[in-house]
Amino acid sequence: MASISERTFIAIKPDGVQRGLVGEIIKRFEQKGFKLVAMKFMHASEDLLKEHYIELKDRPFYAGLIKYMHSGPVVAMVWEGLNVVKTGRVMLGETNPTDSKPGTIRGDFCVQVGRNIIHGSDSVESAETEINLWFTPEELVEYTSCAHQWI
Ligand code: RTP
Ligand code: MG
Repeated sequence: MASISERTFIAIKPDGVQRGLVGEIIKRFEQKGFKLVAMKFMHASEDLLKEHYIELKDRPFYAGLIKYMHSGPVVAMVWEGLNVVKTGRVMLGETNPTDSKPGTIRGDFCVQVGRNIIHGSDSVESAETEINLWFTPEELVEYTSCAHQWI
C-alpha cells in the first residue's frame, strides 16, 4: 500500500469558530479516514499570522486578512493520511466560496472570500513549513490509529 504518512496543516478560522463549525469540520476529516496528529485552540499572534501568510504580503488584501485571522481564536490542526494535502484542499473547496461546489466545506458553509472559515496547506512543502511554524515537535502526537489497517 502507498505511504499514508503525508501531513497537512488545517486551521479553522475565527469565523468558523464563531459560527460553531468546529465539530462539523473535524467530523469531515475524521470520517474521511484521516488521522488527527495535533490540535490546539488558540488566539494566534499577529506575528504568527503574518509569517503564516508571508507569501501574500504584497497582495492588497494582506492587511485585512491578518486582521480577520487575528479577530478571534482559531483551531490549528495537523491531519495525516494518503494524499491528505490534495484531498484536504478538495474537501475545503475553492478559495472563493462562490466557486466552491456544494459538498465542500466552503461550498456548504460560507459565501465570501474574506470569511471563508478554513485554511488548508496548498502543497506538501508548505504543509511542512506551516506545521513547523504552528507546532513544536513534541505537540505532534505519536500513536497508532486502530482504524489504520482498514483505511
Ligand atoms: P488559505 O491559505 O487560507 O487556505 O486559502 P487559499 O489557499 O484558498 O487562498 P490564498 O490565495 O492562500 O489566500 C489566503 C486567504 O486570503 C483571503 N483572501 N482574500 N480577494 C480577496 O479579498 C482575498 N483573496 C484571498 C482568503 O481568506 C484566503 O483563504
Ligand atoms: Mg493559501
